[in-house]
Amino acid sequence: MTYSLSPRSLAPRSLHIALGADHGGVALKNRLAAVLAEAGHQLLDFGTDGPASVDYPDFAHAVCAAVAGKSADYGILVCGTGIGMSIAANRHPDIRCALVHDVTTARLTRAHNDANVLALGARIIGEEVALDILQTFLATEFEGGRHARRLAKLNPATETTP
Ligand code: RB5
Repeated sequence: MTYSLSPRSLAPRSLHIALGADHGGVALKNRLAAVLAEAGHQLLDFGTDGPASVDYPDFAHAVCAAVAGKSADYGILVCGTGIGMSIAANRHPDIRCALVHDVTTARLTRAHNDANVLALGARIIGEEVALDILQTFLATEFEGGRHARRLAKLNPATETTP
């Protein structure tokens, strides 16, 4: 079954999106990249590119550096479970990475957490669910308000009054 998303349904504007995966997530990462490129988004693909065993933190850190440095609007990380990628990503102070398995949490982590990195487990969810999650994640705006106050408390060392 083919699955295509128009630029409008995937996100209202062209985004810069950084992608990374280990060997457990490379096939899904490549599928997501193809759909995103077809929808007109600008991609920074940090690999991996094949089935050889690699270490997920290397790819998580590359993607998060791109997002934190503002060369990407969002990051997408895929490993077998999504767990290792999300743990590695959330060690970056400016990164709010959500490990997501369903569209509801995809929506809420954008609306409430202003998540800027999405972690997916390729051995946990299927391709169709991953694409629905991606579409929802990119289409949902942060609600701000009380949620912004809470985000400001995530990193106590750098906390600023909103
Ligand atoms: C690799 O075998 C696996 O550990 C990795 O893809 C990921 O699931 C780690 O959290």
